[in-house]
Amino acid sequence: MRYNSIPNSLFKKNRQKFMAQMQPKSLAVFNSNDIYPVSADSTMPFRQHRDIFYLSGADQEETLLLLFPDALDEKHREVLFVRETNDHIAVWEGAKLTKAQATEVSGIATIYWLSDFNKVFFDLMTEANVIYFNTNEHYRQAVETQTREDRFIEKCKKDFPAHQWAKSNPILQQIRGIKESEELNLMQQACAITEKGFRRVLRFLQPGVWEYEVEAEYLHEFLRNRSKGFAYTPIIASGNNANVLHYIENNQQCQDGDLVLMDVGAEYANYSSDMTRTIPVSGRFTERQKAVYDAVLRVKNEATQLLVPGTIWAEYHKEVGKIMTSELLGLGLLDSADVQNEDPNWPAYKKYFMHGTSHHIGLDTHDYGALKTPMQPNMVFTVEPGIYIPDEGFGIRIEDDVVIQENGAPFNLMRNIPIEAEEIEELMNG
Ligand code: GLY
Ligand code: MN
Ligand code: MN
Repeated sequence: MRYNSIPNSLFKKNRQKFMAQMQPKSLAVFNSNDIYPVSADSTMPFRQHRDIFYLSGADQEETLLLLFPDALDEKHREVLFVRETNDHIAVWEGAKLTKAQATEVSGIATIYWLSDFNKVFFDLMTEANVIYFNTNEHYRQAVETQTREDRFIEKCKKDFPAHQWAKSNPILQQIRGIKESEELNLMQQACAITEKGFRRVLRFLQPGVWEYEVEAEYLHEFLRNRSKGFAYTPIIASGNNANVLHYIENNQQCQDGDLVLMDVGAEYANYSSDMTRTIPVSGRFTERQKAVYDAVLRVKNEATQLLVPGTIWAEYHKEVGKIMTSELLGLGLLDSADVQNEDPNWPAYKKYFMHGTSHHIGLDTHDYGALKTPMQPNMVFTVEPGIYIPDEGFGIRIEDDVVIQENGAPFNLMRNIPIEAEEIEELMNG
């Protein structure tokens, strides 16, 4: 792997947390992602399914994890199946996990080759009453593709019609939402790589540069720091492009006087960072741009203070809406009549700030995590308010990633990434 090895204590803890919530006499199976095809013989780069990675650290295609806490034979309580390598694979694809390496990575003692799966699985299913299926219940999921997991579930239902089914996802949503210290370290590293990219861009940006050149600066810096690249498709949006929330073309020239909104984050060891900074192409904000910038920054700072144990995500969004409303009044973008007459289901501030303020972040950029129950220590959220003004030719968003603390304000994983308008101007002109 490109990243430094991760202590397998993390994956052992994660499995224990999952198994502690399983019903008696039940087993759970977790599949890897497919390698997705493009056409002819070309494929997308392999990206491991986050759930099997979270529970085993196995970052190799076709790997299967089986958890069965009540297995009669103790060695079958945790089992990892990996693709058997051979001389041909070694020559064409390179090294794959040996059984000893699979144990080292995952902390799982029992490793079988994938070719043994059907036999072992059938035998263990005869001891089990319930099988946990790993469906995708993420609140934003909209996946049309049939995954390897989906195919497994379909086959299992046919082959074992007398077993009961249960859901892995609610357990994973809950435990993945609260990060272990090893995970916070990895996320801190992802943020540190993002910081390097941003500092490089502060020196690079000038009028006439193309948005894709800015993207290339980030990517170069990410790759040379052991990242596989962007945690999500980057947005490099100059001028009015910033007002297209999911602008990913990144194909325009940055003009003197414009701002560039950059929503970019490095991945590291499959963990995401998610940063947004909005900076002036010329190295200097206009007075109006700075007034709006400072308003967004104040909203970000005040919103961050609300991210404490006990906060309810939906109520937090209402509070942030009030803070944003007061800033928009101050900027003259709203007047008191707009606010008095507002539709409670679509408050006036939404005209300029139409997306959410925070999401869980972790292995997935929009990560799993409880949203309807009170926030807990070691949850990690983004904070990302924005003000989008097409009539004035710019949009501003600022985004950091923060860890909820037991006591007091959250810990900002992006605390070292320049954010004050003055500091950004200094660094761009230094
Ligand atoms: N970069 C995706 C987001 O900010 O949610
Ligand atoms: Mn973002
Ligand atoms: Mn985000």
